[in-house]
Amino acid sequence: MNICRTKAELKRLIAECRKDGLSVGFVPTMGFLHEGHASLLRKSKTENDVTVLSIFVNPLQFGPNEDLESYPRDENRDIALAQENGTDIVFIPSVHEMYPEKPLTTVIVNQITDRLCGASRPGHFDGVGTVVSKLFHLVQPDRAYFGMKDAQQVAVIQKMADDLNFPVKIVACPIVREPDGLALSSRNVYLSADHRQQAVVLSRTLQEAEKRLADPDITVERLLALVKQQIGKAGDAVIDYVELLYYPNLQLPEASAKIQTLRQPLLLALAVKFGATRLIDNKIFDAA
Ligand code: PAJ
Repeated sequence: MNICRTKAELKRLIAECRKDGLSVGFVPTMGFLHEGHASLLRKSKTENDVTVLSIFVNPLQFGPNEDLESYPRDENRDIALAQENGTDIVFIPSVHEMYPEKPLTTVIVNQITDRLCGASRPGHFDGVGTVVSKLFHLVQPDRAYFGMKDAQQVAVIQKMADDLNFPVKIVACPIVREPDGLALSSRNVYLSADHRQQAVVLSRTLQEAEKRLADPDITVERLLALVKQQIGKAGDAVIDYVELLYYPNLQLPEASAKIQTLRQPLLLALAVKFGATRLIDNKIFDAA
């Protein structure tokens, strides 16, 4: 496995792959890797000759009061996990390497960033779009792998790739969960033991919601009210958002509409805070 820290070194390695006619799969991450990231690496390995992993905590996508400084980091463990999962090239640039000067160019995807995490975290997706487009230019992947844990991010990156003609196939991968249902996240380490137990309410509520859809009369507003009520039962849960939207255009259905009459897929997305830790989870409902 090659570990490189500069754009020049990465470009040299990628050029070698291209010269040999090898296909390239790419998994961008912010590190502190877990089984969710590993699943993306393994998927890439099955579909490409070479798998590139990037580890970069991107300052551009953090708001001024967010957890950039405290974002968990463990490079040695990440490198070991990358190796175990068949990664060929790990790119670990410094902030200076990625942003030698203040960037004056930003990739902004409009409209689908107005809701959910885009609304709660202003500027977040501008940072994501900008860094992912820089990374796509450096890695020039045939395929890039993203987790549906961040369903809005998948929609944003797909739209960006379409709009800007990035010659890459975006591959959306399923959410990997703990045995009790909690979606894996680098941020789960922040949870106290008590909050860790309470956090299972997110996945349980999504499962419950799916059962409710069997009711032909259930409306969007009724489902959302039930979801909020159930999350509220976890003592310390503070809801950031609970939304049901068309996916992937993230348009809002009529609140009074019966869900069974709506075009699918639909995305039920949750963001809930436990103390200072904000967790997200979601489920796609697709009758097809
Ligand atoms: P990060 O949060 O490290 O996530 C990297 C990738 O792993 C994302 O595509 C994310 O959706 C996926 N992932 C995280 N948890 C997952 C889980 N439980 N199951 C499946 N996939 C999971 O997302 C980012 O980094 C950044 O925004 C990035 C795209 C790297 C741009 O900086």
